[in-house]
Amino acid sequence: MKDVFKAQKITEGVYWVGAIDWGLRDFHGYATHRGSTYNAYLVLADKVALIDTVKAPFKDELLARVASVIDPKKISVIVSNHTEMDHTGCLPEVIEAVEPERVVASKNGAAALAQHFPATTGIEAVEDGATVSLGNRTLSFVETKMVHWPDSMLSYLVEEKLLFSQDAFGMHLATSELFGDNLPRALLEDEAAKYFANILMPLTSFITKTLEKVQALGLEFRIVAPDHGPIYRRDEEIQWIVGKYAEWCAQKPTMKAVVVYDTMWGSTERLARAISEGLKAGGAEPEVMPLRGCHRSDVATAVLGAGALVMGTPTLNGMMFPTVADVLTYLQGLKPQNKVGAAFGSYGWGPAGVKQVQEILGAMKVELVGDGLKVKYVPDEKDLEAAHALGLAVAEKLKAVCTKS
Ligand code: FEO
Repeated sequence: MKDVFKAQKITEGVYWVGAIDWGLRDFHGYATHRGSTYNAYLVLADKVALIDTVKAPFKDELLARVASVIDPKKISVIVSNHTEMDHTGCLPEVIEAVEPERVVASKNGAAALAQHFPATTGIEAVEDGATVSLGNRTLSFVETKMVHWPDSMLSYLVEEKLLFSQDAFGMHLATSELFGDNLPRALLEDEAAKYFANILMPLTSFITKTLEKVQALGLEFRIVAPDHGPIYRRDEEIQWIVGKYAEWCAQKPTMKAVVVYDTMWGSTERLARAISEGLKAGGAEPEVMPLRGCHRSDVATAVLGAGALVMGTPTLNGMMFPTVADVLTYLQGLKPQNKVGAAFGSYGWGPAGVKQVQEILGAMKVELVGDGLKVKYVPDEKDLEAAHALGLAVAEKLKAVCTKS
């Protein structure tokens, strides 16, 4: 296998030994249209270290890539930066195969690993700020609770100024290209934004604190190596991705307005079309997302960069449409901030669906425009004018909010 699955060199004595999951299309409810990678890293030193492992089915590939450089038994230290099983699924088997001197994780990490893998003992907790000497190289650790889990930490290879950033700055993108600077920036921005929106958006206060903490430590980064997607090795791109994180944490409102809807017989769709015309006429930039063709995770990405969220639903059996409920449940958990919005939809017997959407948007602290536009059966000209007027009113509100911020 080591002649098939090879390590890739990042810098002197540091190798990528992870796995490319070309076939992944769902990551706990997030549509990964372009697959993903599970990055693990080998650090050659007097004492060899392995930073993170991979999802369980890829264990043999990981060990083969290590074996293409050194005998896996030479690994002395395994670091687990994050317990989620895309990075630890094969950890117990790797420990068994390698028999390292030490396996280290944060305090919360050691506890979480014990709960995930009760048969695996001896995992050592390292304190925030602790270091582990590899002889001629040093690893230091920075706790980053809730970026992404309570156990998360960063590892920093001091001599190389190389940050192993686990989920932070990552993206779900299967590629055999190791470095971000060899890929189109627009692709990186799309996938990094999607990752942030779907994985990190509810954690923005923790991310902001982590960025401040790392800045206060005065660490310099020559290379940033996340656990998913490409590695950043140029100053300009490291500054770019850190700047993007600051921007996405702030979620300053923009004139973009996302109109999300489903429809039964085309009436709610007609309203969506009229609303988008009103938004455009009012100076907003509508993005209309029919749920028959848009996945919840793409809606979340659009919402991250938007100032308005306008949701449309038919009423089916006294309830909002199931696809609308799905997206709203998902978005409510992701806690987007600083949005204005509105609800609309057609109904037959009673307009309960629009009211339900309105209530959830309110619970999400979306600043609502109007009382929810409800149209019986099929919209006539007056109804379409009302929908256009709603679009205009949302655009006006957006303008006011954008001017203030
Ligand atoms: Fe890539 Fe939170 O695991």
